[in-house]
Amino acid sequence: MSESIGTLQLQRKGDGEYVLWTENVVKRFGGIIALNKVNIKLRKGKITLLIGPNGSGKTTLVNVISGFLTPEEGKVIYKGKDITRLPPHDRVKMGLVRTFQIPKPFQNLTVLENVMVAAEGNPGENPYIAAIFRSKWKKFEKEQVERAFNILKWVGLVHKWDSKASDLSGGQLKLLEIARAIMKGADTIIMDEPAAGINPVLVHDLFDRIVKLSRERHVTFLIIEHRIGLVGKYVDYAYAMNMGEVISEGEPEEVFNDPKVLESYLGG
Ligand SMILES: Nc1ncnc2c1ncn2[C@@H]1O[C@H](COP(=O)(O)OP(=O)(O)OP(=O)(O)O)[C@@H](O)[C@H]1O
Ligand SMILES: [Mg+2]
Repeated sequence: MSESIGTLQLQRKGDGEYVLWTENVVKRFGGIIALNKVNIKLRKGKITLLIGPNGSGKTTLVNVISGFLTPEEGKVIYKGKDITRLPPHDRVKMGLVRTFQIPKPFQNLTVLENVMVAAEGNPGENPYIAAIFRSKWKKFEKEQVERAFNILKWVGLVHKWDSKASDLSGGQLKLLEIARAIMKGADTIIMDEPAAGINPVLVHDLFDRIVKLSRERHVTFLIIEHRIGLVGKYVDYAYAMNMGEVISEGEPEEVFNDPKVLESYLGG
């Protein structure tokens, strides 16, 4: 990459291998402490899994990270910047995207068109601007088509480029969501239970692609998922929560077999 040595040194010093972390995040709902001094870190280009029984605080944490909730205490640091009070759309501009922030695919548009419309600064959004900048628009469009095709290749949907979104399977729709997030500029993608409602064979296809994107494109993932038996082998690092606290973290296998974690599921 083209980063200067100076920048690299700075990044190493400042926890450069982590793209995002939380510092002692506290979130209360009335008398309930949904998050009690939570610290998690997302390793750059890795897949981090967040598990925990119902009500343990997973979605609340993801809401704090993506900006839908402001914590009472603590910080969220992303790309070296304190984003604790930054609105969600400004986090999206920085590359931090939760897949549901991308509008649902248009059923009657093709896969390629759906990726295209996710692009930032699409002049087609305003017909007057589009007319004035017609010549620029052409060039922009050509570049965007190429980019969209490339992204479809990365996520393994290029063979479906001309199919209607309505013809995709559940797993392919998840891949389309990822493609659209990347088209929007995402390099850090948060997914809340992506495997829900998808048949197990397709879950493996989906996670194979997620692994490829992290390895080859250095996309960072934070994934909430209950079915650890299904997705555990694909992830790099895991956190387990219970009652608003991180109770275990480390290699996925270690975390899944941690007696505290097993107990939390039985207790829940
Ligand atoms: N908007 C809210 N208002 C009041 N309480 C809330 C709100 N959102 C979450 N909670 C409470 O905070 C706690 C954590 O909930 P959260 O949804 O984060 O859990 P979760 O781990 O995502 O659970 P699940 O696995 O069921 O999705 C729960 O006790 C929940 O009832
Ligand atoms: Mg939840």
